[in-house]
Amino acid sequence: MLPLSLYIHFPWCVQKCPYCDFNSHAIKNSGVPEEIYIDRLILDFEQDLPLILDRDRPLISIFMGGGTPSLFSPKALSRLLKHIESRLKFSSTIEITLEANPGTIERGKFQEYFDIGINRISLGVQSFNNNHLKKLGRIHGSMEACRAIEEIYQAGFNTFNLDLMHGLPNQTPEEAFEDLKQALSFDPPHLSWYQLTLEPNTLFYAKPPVLPSEEILEIIETKGLDLLKNKNLTRYEISAYSKQNHESQHNKNYWEFGDYLGIGAGAHGKLSDPIKQIIVRTTKKKHPKDYLECSQNLLQESREIPESERPFEFLLNTLRLINGVENNLFLPRTFLPIQTISNPINLLREQGLIQPDKLATTPLGLRYLNSVLEKFLSLSKD
Ligand SMILES: C[S@@+](CC[C@H](N)C(=O)[O-])C[C@H]1O[C@@H](n2cnc3c(N)ncnc32)[C@H](O)[C@@H]1O
Ligand code: SF4
Repeated sequence: MLPLSLYIHFPWCVQKCPYCDFNSHAIKNSGVPEEIYIDRLILDFEQDLPLILDRDRPLISIFMGGGTPSLFSPKALSRLLKHIESRLKFSSTIEITLEANPGTIERGKFQEYFDIGINRISLGVQSFNNNHLKKLGRIHGSMEACRAIEEIYQAGFNTFNLDLMHGLPNQTPEEAFEDLKQALSFDPPHLSWYQLTLEPNTLFYAKPPVLPSEEILEIIETKGLDLLKNKNLTRYEISAYSKQNHESQHNKNYWEFGDYLGIGAGAHGKLSDPIKQIIVRTTKKKHPKDYLECSQNLLQESREIPESERPFEFLLNTLRLINGVENNLFLPRTFLPIQTISNPINLLREQGLIQPDKLATTPLGLRYLNSVLEKFLSLSKD
């Protein structure tokens, strides 16, 4: 039985950050249409249920992401979670994550989220430097981030993640290390440390700020990795670091090419059918207005992943994991024999880019991951 997760998208934020290309929209003083959105999510979930052939298959994780899901009240999220639990079995170790923005957390709110069954918080800190936070268009300052982390502890969460970015406009290595040190002073069980990228269709892309040079980025990365190692945080994915047993179960399922339902505006899902040996990708109506106004079919598109594209898609995900995956995961996740990728894999092994006995990059392969993946992209065109 392939592990099954559920992603729930919340497409609103207080304001839009200039670097962000996620499906998120400023709320413009009107607040979030809480009740109707939860009604739609429940409808969406019900429409997806037939995709799960075996209802005894337990959910291993739920991730409420955005956007800013923490704009939704604990009461509204509780109604949604209760509905889901009444229809699908939860695994006894289910991980339920809420993405939260420090600027939306009033005192006591994390406690209420904890009380309704959410057991993991992913907090969007980004930086502890107020000048950088301002340039990033964030609605919070360093004090709010620190207070929010303390509240996570007080509420009793056993595990949580901090999102931090580096390579910020005009950032010096010292400023980047200061951010890391401040984050580490809270002893987080999990840290996501992303390098800022300029994404098309963002304000930063249209009017690019001055970013640190390649040399400075290299210094930040190398010394930053050492700081993280010293705090027992192991890098298990390109941008993800965790203490033992605190890896994100939800993201690991994506990276291991497991199955997930995706509900909410613009959400993606991926479901396998082992009997028909097919894998289907689903996408929901993207614009919040279209999603809210639709009371019929919320599905925008459903597409089978052709056999020719499966090796690339599988490796695009699994090779992000520092330890990769075992060879024998390829067949049950793609429904294709491993021999399908023998030629490019053998070549990459000869070049020292893929490990000899498993589907994992070597340190050199990780550095040139895009070139490694290109070998499989051409496979799908052959
Ligand atoms: C889906 S976003 C939403 C999180 C939440 N709304 C927030 O911003 O506080 C998850 C994370 O992706 C990272 N991120 C977003 N845009 C990025 C970009 N252009 N480059 C690098 N990281 C980015 C940020 O660290 C962010 O917290
Ligand atoms: S708060 Fe998060 S999701 Fe919203 S615009 Fe900023 S980065 Fe994007």
